[in-house]
Amino acid sequence: MRILGISGSPRKEGNTEVLLGEALQGARDVGAEVEEVFLRDKTISPCLEIYGCKRDGRCVIEDDFHEVAEKMLQADALILASPIFFYTVSAHTKMLMDRCQSFWVKRYLLKRPIAPGRSRRKGAFISAGATRGKRLFDGVTLTARYFFDALDVDLFDTLLVRGVDEKGEIFDHPEEIRAAYELGRRLARAE
Ligand SMILES: Cc1cc2nc3c(=O)[nH]c(=O)nc-3n(C[C@H](O)[C@H](O)[C@H](O)COP(=O)(O)O)c2cc1C
Repeated sequence: MRILGISGSPRKEGNTEVLLGEALQGARDVGAEVEEVFLRDKTISPCLEIYGCKRDGRCVIEDDFHEVAEKMLQADALILASPIFFYTVSAHTKMLMDRCQSFWVKRYLLKRPIAPGRSRRKGAFISAGATRGKRLFDGVTLTARYFFDALDVDLFDTLLVRGVDEKGEIFDHPEEIRAAYELGRRLARAE
């Protein structure tokens, strides 16, 4: 089982990154091979809506997207982590998502498989926000679901943490850190 963790926070070792790290540790502890990518270290253009991908499903903008895309395709499961920025995902995360329109085109317009021979791939989404509103995660939950769908990945689990803002504040919530660890274990064990 190969699991790819994708950190979408611009903040190094921020709250979502701590949770992602715990989830990957949980997966590693039950035998998964794990890798983590940090989107802030990548150069990924926004989608330019030129639809060069309609030819064969490959995005025609040449940048680090392709390196991340290849890792996403090779993984058996994905964990995406993003802070809440204005009730949606971070800009780093959204740039990756929008470039995955090329996978949507491949899957739904060209009707080609995304990861041939490997069905039922699973994804998990981790997020954190400063406020506590009931609807804080409404938008990102849908966004994450349809991002994974473009990759032919089912949204298996989410960990959504309210009321954390400052860097390191997540350590005041050991139950959420534990929940992240358990999420990683469950994901790695999922059939
Ligand atoms: C640009 C920006 C926008 C934000 N928007 C929201 C928001 O809409 N709702 C909210 O609850 N928190 C918001 N926050 C707070 C972050 O979600 C919060 O600090 C989170 O813990 C950051 O996670 P990180 O450390 O993994 O980056 C915002 C923070 C920034 C920098």
